[in-house]
Amino acid sequence: MMEDSPFKGQVVVITGGAGAIGAAIGLLMGRSGARIALWDLNRTALDAIAADLSAQGIDCCVHAGDLTLETEVEAAHAMTLAAFGRVDMLVTATGISPREDAVTQPVGNWQRSLDVNMTSVFLASRIIVREMLERGVKGRIVHLGSIMGLSGGGLYPNLAYHATKGAIVNMTRAMACEWAPHGIRVNSVAPTWVDTPFIGALKADPDAMRKIAEVTPLGRIARPEEVAHGVAFLLGAQSAMITGHTLPIDGGFLAR
Ligand SMILES: NC(=O)c1ccc[n+]([C@@H]2O[C@H](COP(=O)([O-])OP(=O)(O)OC[C@H]3O[C@@H](n4cnc5c(N)ncnc54)[C@H](O)[C@@H]3O)[C@@H](O)[C@H]2O)c1
Repeated sequence: MMEDSPFKGQVVVITGGAGAIGAAIGLLMGRSGARIALWDLNRTALDAIAADLSAQGIDCCVHAGDLTLETEVEAAHAMTLAAFGRVDMLVTATGISPREDAVTQPVGNWQRSLDVNMTSVFLASRIIVREMLERGVKGRIVHLGSIMGLSGGGLYPNLAYHATKGAIVNMTRAMACEWAPHGIRVNSVAPTWVDTPFIGALKADPDAMRKIAEVTPLGRIARPEEVAHGVAFLLGAQSAMITGHTLPIDGGFLAR
């Protein structure tokens, strides 16, 4: 653990915690003193990340399950309370990006995007805030949005992703307004393309990477740690007066 431990003893739940960005957030928060609960579909990745965190002296617990299902979210929450007894912060980092033309996209793929990118966010926020309200916790929540939630076009058609990441912007505002009277803050981050397997197909395509460099004033994709630092800021005391906002972490993409 770092000497500077601003989150010492606090518990953070990270949904999509086995993903590249979720794992980077878990590591940064763990090194900053937090206890980490990782919820994700991918048990193998969860176990590997938990072993790595534990080896670094970071308290960690995991739950593997489909977070679009209310029963799984309830089980994950119960596991977290059994392990740590409380939750102070939530980061939602589940996500899928079908990258399909709207005119040919099967409704099942559309619906799955809504379920993973929106419903899992609603379910995790609801169960954690219910318990924060019961205990009078002044919690903090950060959702993973995207620059695609603030613009209509990326490198390819991806209506379901644009729609659901746009929804994150307004879910953030609505949650912030609903829970501000209880001292609970809700914000989101909107990263540009981040160097994770999520964009594996793009990274393998030099033309796509050249186009990304062209549309990004800083000329590169982001690193997961750079997103994690933005999330940690919004979870921390330095952002005590910030709620309901979406922070782009985009190398200037949205400034063009
Ligand atoms: N990588 C990027 O370029 C990028 C850019 C902007 C925003 N984001 C967003 O950041 C978040 C994390 O992205 P990432 O790059 O780490 O991707 P990732 O694929 O590595 O992580 C996503 C995680 O979500 C989990 N997940 C998916 N469906 C689930 C479900 N039903 N139940 C439980 N877990 C489920 C996956 O198992 C995975 O571990 C996503 O919301 C994504 O949309 C990513």
